[in-house]
Amino acid sequence: MYSEKVMDHFQNPRNVGEIEDASGVGTVGNAKCGDIMRIFLDIDDETHIIKDCKFKTFGCGAAVATSSMATELVKGCTIEEAMQITNKAVMEALDGLPPVKVHCSLLAEEAIHAALWDYAEKHDITIEGLEKPKSDIHEGEEEDEEQY
Ligand code: FES
Repeated sequence: MYSEKVMDHFQNPRNVGEIEDASGVGTVGNAKCGDIMRIFLDIDDETHIIKDCKFKTFGCGAAVATSSMATELVKGCTIEEAMQITNKAVMEALDGLPPVKVHCSLLAEEAIHAALWDYAEKHDITIEGLEKPKSDIHEGEEEDEEQY
């Protein structure tokens, strides 16, 4: 069911932990399964290069594997490059995820965006293409559901 890369990142996740005095921190949750992910970024203020990235995930194996891979991809990127790292890119780097687990990969993308948003707010800068993060990745959907 899972690729070797997913199993590897699930069993030996990279970059687990926290960054003290992180430049940006983002936390997102998925109300449907209750899983939560927090990403910490250490960003160079002059070059805007992401020097370090760590994560903590309270979630399923696919969420752990995608966070692990996402932190690996983001490290060494500029902020602009990090904005291009979508959940699709993370899934491709992991050789795919089963369809029922695709939503898990969204946590990593959203958590990175939330951490970048935190950085942008602290430094009073605008990051092109970055929108205010939702606290829950299904926020929009749920609002729709409530109308019925
Ligand atoms: Fe919740 Fe995977 S089942 S993130």
